[in-house]
Amino acid sequence: MRILIIGSSGGIGSALVNLFLASDTEAIIYATYRTNKPEIDNDRIHWFNIDASSEPDIRSLTDSIPRLDILINAAGFLHLPDTKPEKSINEFTRDFFDQNIHSNVLPTIYLAKYFSTQLKSKHRTYFISLSARIGSIEDNKIGGWISYRCSKAALNMAIKTISIEWKHKLPNCCVLAFHPGTTDTDLSKPFQKNVQPDKLFTADYVAQCVLNVLNTAAPADSGKFFSYDGSEIPW
Ligand SMILES: NC(=O)c1ccc[n+]([C@@H]2O[C@H](COP(=O)([O-])OP(=O)(O)OC[C@H]3O[C@@H](n4cnc5c(N)ncnc54)[C@H](OP(=O)(O)O)[C@@H]3O)[C@@H](O)[C@H]2O)c1
Repeated sequence: MRILIIGSSGGIGSALVNLFLASDTEAIIYATYRTNKPEIDNDRIHWFNIDASSEPDIRSLTDSIPRLDILINAAGFLHLPDTKPEKSINEFTRDFFDQNIHSNVLPTIYLAKYFSTQLKSKHRTYFISLSARIGSIEDNKIGGWISYRCSKAALNMAIKTISIEWKHKLPNCCVLAFHPGTTDTDLSKPFQKNVQPDKLFTADYVAQCVLNVLNTAAPADSGKFFSYDGSEIPW
């Protein structure tokens, strides 16, 4: 198996790298980080330093990766040290909105643009992006967090659109959005106070949930939005 994990320095991304290394002793992992290279060393990992929102970075990554069985985008953005998601539209700023779009939408679109050749196969392949239930329009009952919410809704639309285009071009590729649930990582740290302990997941648990979805989803499921427990979320 050849597996590309974008955002392997993140909480969920690094747990995915460790899980694939342990669960598949033949797996070759292509792992990317943007800021700090994680201290996961193994002969089967190839590390790349990229900004996943940069088109030239994604394009040049293809030079080192001839083919793929699984591509997982685990990069994402929710807050800055001095800027939290908006409680009200009155807090909206263009800068914060742009940062959400930059990190939560662009990487998936560039990855689809440049990695279709690597994912085209007679065997089953997977293109999966970590989204969030908050990006479901149908599920939106409480509002708030408008920039993150809109960016994940846009990501979901990108996934659906890619899945439709690839139904004929890459009929064996399963294109999915995945909601990890609230996971104990830097991204969720400031928002964990009101989360019930049994609803705050470890990154290792969530990585296993991603693997469970990969093990059960077929190309007929392409274009679906799955939650960590394998249930489907409405778009
Ligand atoms: N944790 C949760 O509760 C939760 C809930 C729902 C959805 N999610 C989604 O799950 C995904 C993973 O989140 P996480 O919890 O693992 O967060 P995390 O620990 O903060 O990791 C996010 C990673 O994304 C990377 N990143 C952001 N923008 C990037 C870019 N433009 N290019 C390359 N790398 C970029 C960051 O790299 P740097 O460190 O170098 O900036 C970081 O390594 C995200 O899409 C998030 O929205 C998480």
